[in-house]
Amino acid sequence: MPDLKVLLSREQIAKRVAEMAAEITRDYQGQSIILIGVLKGAAIFLSDLARQLPLDATFDFIGVSSYGNRPTPKEDPVGHATWDSLGEVRVTKDMDNSLADRHVILVEDILDTGLTLNYISKLVLAHQPLSLSIAALLDKPSRRKQPIQARYIGFSIPDVYVVGYGLDYAERYRNLPDVCVIENG
Ligand code: IMP
Ligand code: MG
Repeated sequence: MPDLKVLLSREQIAKRVAEMAAEITRDYQGQSIILIGVLKGAAIFLSDLARQLPLDATFDFIGVSSYGNRPTPKEDPVGHATWDSLGEVRVTKDMDNSLADRHVILVEDILDTGLTLNYISKLVLAHQPLSLSIAALLDKPSRRKQPIQARYIGFSIPDVYVVGYGLDYAERYRNLPDVCVIENG
């Protein structure tokens, strides 16, 4: 069992999610929005965020997997090499709703290289929504490979691998209430 060290406590997360919800509520006052969560990591963030938006809102989810997630033998098993994206993104679950004439907010757990959200943004924009913005709970700006503008960011974090609050390591730890760093595999 690896050591897990709390990086962001459930209290810190709750406070910041409430602030993000307040910002979104101000920005979209009087509008109908559609929240599109990126499976599976964003599910918990989306459910906490959405319940604090007193707006006319609907949900959708998109599933993607990065073809390129291959381990590089030289690097640590919990290091970035195990999930470094090669930029090939495949849709495993498409959106169910029409996005035409909708204000779309893409909800993501973490913004890392930017490849996934760039890819999904293009898919969404092809549906010609009224507007598109991105809400990401976490951001690792030092890892960016493609520029991406997220309008709402919860926390900027250093280049460490995190789990919990929806984020996984090999599908585990999504249910941890805090965002934690894995200290050793
Ligand atoms: P990007 O395409 O490199 O921006 O990848 C973003 C995706 O990689 C996120 O949606 C996560 O699924 C995953 N990811 C990036 N960093 C972490 C991390 O520290 N822990 C868990 N998943 C991560
Ligand atoms: Mg994800």
